[in-house]
Amino acid sequence: MNSPDKKKRSPWLNWTLFAVTIIVVFFLGLLVSSITERRAEAIFAYKPKVKLNEFEPRNEVWGKNYPKEYESYRKTFESDFRTAHGGNAKRDMLAEDPALVILWAGYAFSKDYSQGRGHSHAIEDVQNTIRTGGPLAPEAGPQSSTCWTCKSPDVPRMMNEMGIKEFYSTTWSALGPQITNSIGCGDCHNPETMDLTITRPALVEAYTAMGKDIKQATQQEMRSLVCAQCHVEYYFDKKKVGAEGAAYLTFPWVNGFKPEDMLKYYNDKGFSDWTHALSRAPMLKMQHPDYELYKTGIHAERGVACADCHMPYISEGGVKFSNHHVTSPLKYISQACQTCHRESEETLIKNVYDRQNNIAELRLKAEEVLVHAHIEAKAAWDAGATETEMNEILIEIRDGQWFWDYVAASHGGSFHSPVESGRVLGKSIDYAQNARVKLARLLATKGITTEIPYPDITTKEKAQNYIGLPMEKLIQEKKIFQEQILPKWEKEAEERESKYDVVSK
Ligand code: HEC
Ligand code: HEC
Ligand code: HEC
Ligand code: HEC
Repeated sequence: MNSPDKKKRSPWLNWTLFAVTIIVVFFLGLLVSSITERRAEAIFAYKPKVKLNEFEPRNEVWGKNYPKEYESYRKTFESDFRTAHGGNAKRDMLAEDPALVILWAGYAFSKDYSQGRGHSHAIEDVQNTIRTGGPLAPEAGPQSSTCWTCKSPDVPRMMNEMGIKEFYSTTWSALGPQITNSIGCGDCHNPETMDLTITRPALVEAYTAMGKDIKQATQQEMRSLVCAQCHVEYYFDKKKVGAEGAAYLTFPWVNGFKPEDMLKYYNDKGFSDWTHALSRAPMLKMQHPDYELYKTGIHAERGVACADCHMPYISEGGVKFSNHHVTSPLKYISQACQTCHRESEETLIKNVYDRQNNIAELRLKAEEVLVHAHIEAKAAWDAGATETEMNEILIEIRDGQWFWDYVAASHGGSFHSPVESGRVLGKSIDYAQNARVKLARLLATKGITTEIPYPDITTKEKAQNYIGLPMEKLIQEKKIFQEQILPKWEKEAEERESKYDVVSK
């Protein structure tokens, strides 16, 4: 029942409503003014201050125009975040896992191998690793100029200056004074438009070889493809038609991304990276197929890009921008994962670690079986085995180690694609065990029926000693290089860059 009294509002209610409205309008006004201010701040942050040259390699010059991205990029210098299997701290992988020394006997990785860390360290790390040796003259080895390709925005600059084929045709040492700015802006961005761009010819050429055009890639694909310029399996093609004599950087992708596809590619070419120092097997080194293995995982399947997890958006002072501190996403779980997943930080970390731990268990098993196989093959040679007797066995060792390395060398792969990682490691163990069964039979025909003992490789030093690496000499050579050559490279680079013009806008 409606009484007429109830329809009439009391005057004090009207006054209250009026007052509330005034207060709401006042706060709305404040909000608008704050938004305008922040937008002004945002516009200010993006107002270009300098004109960037087409091949500007210096990150700090780009940083003048894009201070937020630059400041976050500078955090890739940090080296203090450790997770169970990753993080940005320097980790000596050979000391953590000396079996690696045996698996890579005869190849530079057995001398020195540290886990990857932040992009800002790329130049200093490649200069200081024992793998690049101690060249005292521009023409001295051991490494080719191609080794610089994934380290610096000076690379596109030099490729433009020298020509691509010529860039791949000299020594690592000869280009030392030229390549001094660590991985940065010019590797992924067009300085004119700031669009994502592919600066490395190998990726463009791999697309062409697959009959695809990388220019047709979507924006979301580009957020992974900029990483696929470097985080991939590759080899140096020394027989490329039209580029004879060059160590031409090539991705073995024409048959596909699976390890079987890439193995077929190399087998068809009769290619091997090195001959194993113990077993004499014609080995392949998988580099870092991070992109390939990621592509087989559920996140790639659902269209999640590398940058979604490794460069998530963050907000600061009203400005939303991509976090250029590329590192383990476990450092930024709320931005990197919880934008899509509702689970707690602890649950997400557990999900990552469970997958990594399970895959690590299989990976270590594969290593043990492979070490046995190399050592038993050596024993067979020593007992007088012939090439005909050994050939099939050596191919099985080659393939077994290839499958193991696909997972071992793919950083983050055990999270990116755990099911595929498990499948491939299963294959590795199968091949290596088959080789061992055949080796046992072969050894028996030579009168050896007792087990070939597993060597004492409990430390990196013991393992390196076992394969006969002259570590003291190598370390000494590196020291002389660091004292005599590195300062010269730096001085030359400084003089050259002091002549670059920076035009204010
Ligand atoms: C769904 C999120 C996600 C996507 C997508 C993703 N990653 Fe990762 N990535 C991770 C996580 C989680 C780890 C493990 C970090 C750790 O162990 O601390 C990782 C580890 C890595 C590592 C090793 C880093 C370290 O700290 O050891 C590299 C390198 C890497 N990813 C590169 C890539 C590349 C390249 C792509 C795209 C091809 C990619 N990731 C796509 C989440 C992702
Ligand atoms: C120009 C080549 C290049 C490009 C492009 C590149 N990387 Fe890297 N990345 C490297 C190298 C080289 C290292 C190892 C540096 C070192 O250890 O000194 C590295 C290291 C890393 C690490 C380990 C850092 C840490 O803190 O543990 C991650 C993660 C990573 N890259 C992810 C990515 C992602 C994601 C992209 C694309 C958005 C990308 N990278 C693009 C070459 C590249
Ligand atoms: C490894 C590749 C890579 C490097 C190196 C890199 N960026 Fe980016 N940058 C990206 C990606 C991926 C995005 C996201 C682009 C998108 O989704 O449109 C981005 C976005 C940006 C944007 C657009 C606004 C934003 O934050 O999303 C600016 C500006 C930018 N980067 C500046 C820089 C500067 C300055 C540097 C050097 C200090 C740099 N970038 C280095 C990959 C890179
Ligand atoms: C852009 C969205 C997005 C981001 C960012 C993202 N994920 Fe996912 N994640 C997905 C989707 C989609 C799936 C597939 C689930 C489905 O479709 O039901 C998935 C699946 C998973 C799974 C199950 C995969 C498996 O191996 O079975 C885990 C674990 C996971 N994500 C963890 C993470 C972690 C940790 C991060 C941050 C490092 C992360 N995700 C970042 C969207 C995302």
